[in-house]
Amino acid sequence: MCGIVGYIGHRNAWPIIIKGLKRLEYRGYDSAGVALIDNKNLNIYKKAGKVQVLEDYAADQNLNGNIGMGHTRWATHGAPSDRNSHPHTSNNKRFSIIHNGIIENYATLKEELIRRGHTFESDTDTEVLIHLIEEIYKNESVELFEAVRLALKEVNGAYAIVIMDSEQPDQLIAARKGSPMVIGVGEGEYFIASDATPIIEYTNNVIYLNDNEVAQVKTDSLIIKRLDNVIQTPYIQELELQLEMLEKGGYDHFMLKEIYEQPRSIRDCMRGRIYPSEGKVQLGGIKEYAEKLKNIDRIIIVACGTSWHAGLVGEYLIEEYARIPVEVEYASEFRYRNPIITEKDVVIAISQSGETADTMAALEMAKEKGATLFGVCNVVGASIPRITDAGVYTHAGPEIGVASTKAFTAQVTVLTLMAFYMAQQKGTISKSKMVELLTELDQIPSKIEKVLESDNLIKEISEKFFNARNFLFLGRGSGFPVALEGALKLKEISYIHAEGYPAAEMKHGPIALIDEEMPVVFIATKNSSYEKVISNIQEVKARKGVVIAIVTAGDTEVRKMADYCIEIPDANEAFLPLLATIPLQLLSYHIALLRGCNVDQPRNLAKSVTVE
Ligand code: G6P
Repeated sequence: MCGIVGYIGHRNAWPIIIKGLKRLEYRGYDSAGVALIDNKNLNIYKKAGKVQVLEDYAADQNLNGNIGMGHTRWATHGAPSDRNSHPHTSNNKRFSIIHNGIIENYATLKEELIRRGHTFESDTDTEVLIHLIEEIYKNESVELFEAVRLALKEVNGAYAIVIMDSEQPDQLIAARKGSPMVIGVGEGEYFIASDATPIIEYTNNVIYLNDNEVAQVKTDSLIIKRLDNVIQTPYIQELELQLEMLEKGGYDHFMLKEIYEQPRSIRDCMRGRIYPSEGKVQLGGIKEYAEKLKNIDRIIIVACGTSWHAGLVGEYLIEEYARIPVEVEYASEFRYRNPIITEKDVVIAISQSGETADTMAALEMAKEKGATLFGVCNVVGASIPRITDAGVYTHAGPEIGVASTKAFTAQVTVLTLMAFYMAQQKGTISKSKMVELLTELDQIPSKIEKVLESDNLIKEISEKFFNARNFLFLGRGSGFPVALEGALKLKEISYIHAEGYPAAEMKHGPIALIDEEMPVVFIATKNSSYEKVISNIQEVKARKGVVIAIVTAGDTEVRKMADYCIEIPDANEAFLPLLATIPLQLLSYHIALLRGCNVDQPRNLAKSVTVE
């Protein structure tokens, strides 16, 4: 969470930082702040609220400076207020800092600093860190670069930080542990950011800082050291990101653009990986483990949020086709239990951002116990793909809307490919069946295009229900994770209470909630549980519930009972989640819009959750 941007070079830093912060707003939008150095004067502007509020506030102030840094905050320590906004400064106001992460031992450090005469202006852990750096700088008579390194050795927790010294406006100091940080390399200028999105319009050359590294960035030099004082050789990588991927491209919202991108993102995800006529799947990222996959005891999937829902679909598919037992765990629960993990287990982490703190921690624990780690991530080069042994990228392209859409369907696509790949390795699937499944999978993007044609119908249905106070989403089999995802999408962006349930479980509780006020969304497509779902619909109708059903094109049975039907093309049950999720994304989008909610940046949420 929290976005950070830094700049040093020949240009004016302010516009670069503001533009960068806007691109990073998906990481948090409780407050924003910028520090600039102009002729050894440190000017700090910070405001609670979005970057636009800060921009308006600072418009008529001195915004000069070729060095600066900015921050967009997702509050952890201290309420979202001007006072708690970053940047924070040292006691003598000479040093300033922006920080993403949490300093866990800040309370002890703060007590000691107060004893030494420091006074604090905010409730943040970040302010404690810059005071500690100031104290070391003074007492040890070392350079700032060294003072930062020494201070970080005393700190527990996670951080990505940038620090400036108004007396030495020729350098930025940056460091990371557990929170992402990228350095963009230009001609006589450097850019620093939480991810590459603020950097891409200036340079394609980037360095991903590793955990426990500190960098001294000057216009003409870059030195990277590890916390143990060993100098590192910077490794410059070329970015594949393109600027258009970060723009709305004519859509009103990123979420809508990303929903509509799904036929393309799924095609990108499958490209070069499926060979329908040969009945073959190739996954270069895990091919070194092809032999091992024949003999594994179990797969454990760890993830959070929407990615956890994708994991449930993965469980269904891997057990069905590869006949390997799968457990799907919330990473946050898994890491604090004492789970049984052996060297014969494969742990798959699913994460759009590749940075989620709980998922990372779950992986670290599994690694210690000797499991093989796979990653299913969207952001290339993020922390999770770097600690896993192998993995398969989802290649959905940057997802900016905070509520995940195209990343989810890309995750499900990768898990489908993994299930087929494992089945192929284990011989649990025949060649002819693979030909049949892959031929159909290849057609899924076109079928999604068809589903998107229902947008107007879904908008009309949304107009009927946007004032509802509760929603129930029900499905069976692989329709159950779809129901969970539909409920989560609605909750996230429209703030309507919604629950996803296995349809048959309804009678053990949720049925008590049903009345004529309660819309119930059923995943009622023609698959193995079709008849059973019909019985569940009847149970709802008998209690005067209002039913919105996702049905297979041409369905007549459900249509007789449901109040509203949204058709999706017929498909093998394995591919149901890829199709049935789309109308639910559109339903939540239109409802949120009708309720006047901020679709791309829902309150209190952040896209990348780097705190536990
Ligand atoms: C946040 C996001 C969700 C996402 C979850 C897990 O809550 O708002 O959209 O599903 O984190 O994130 P990850 O990047 O690990 O998939």
